[in-house]
Amino acid sequence: MPQIVFLPHEELCPEGAAIEAKSGETILNVALQNGISIPHACEKSCACTTCHLVIREGFDSLEESDELEDDMLDKAWGLEPESRLGCQALIADEDLIVEIPKYNLNIVNEDH
Ligand code: FES
Repeated sequence: MPQIVFLPHEELCPEGAAIEAKSGETILNVALQNGISIPHACEKSCACTTCHLVIREGFDSLEESDELEDDMLDKAWGLEPESRLGCQALIADEDLIVEIPKYNLNIVNEDH
C-alpha cells in the first residue's frame, strides 16, 4: 500500500503525518479519514480550490488532471506545477509527499 506523507501544516497537522493508503482513493479522503481536516467547501465536486494540495513527491504517478480540475487550479492561491485538487487526485501505487498550502481561497460562498 502506498504511503502518503503530509508535511506539517501549522493548523491542520502540526506534526505532519504518514498514512498507509489504498490505491484509487482520493488524497483528500485519506487525509479526512485520518483527522487532517483539509477544507472541502464544494463537498468534493471540483468546484472550489479549498482542497488544493502540492504533491512534492510522486506527482507523476498520479493520473493527469482533467480540464475542469485545471481550470479550478488556475484560481488557487499559490499554484505550483505540481498542484492538484485533493478531492480529484486519485492515489496510484507510489508513495506521495503532500504539502498543504498555507492559505487557500474559498471561492464558494458557503452561506448561500
Ligand atoms: S473540495 Fe472543492 S474542489 Fe475539492
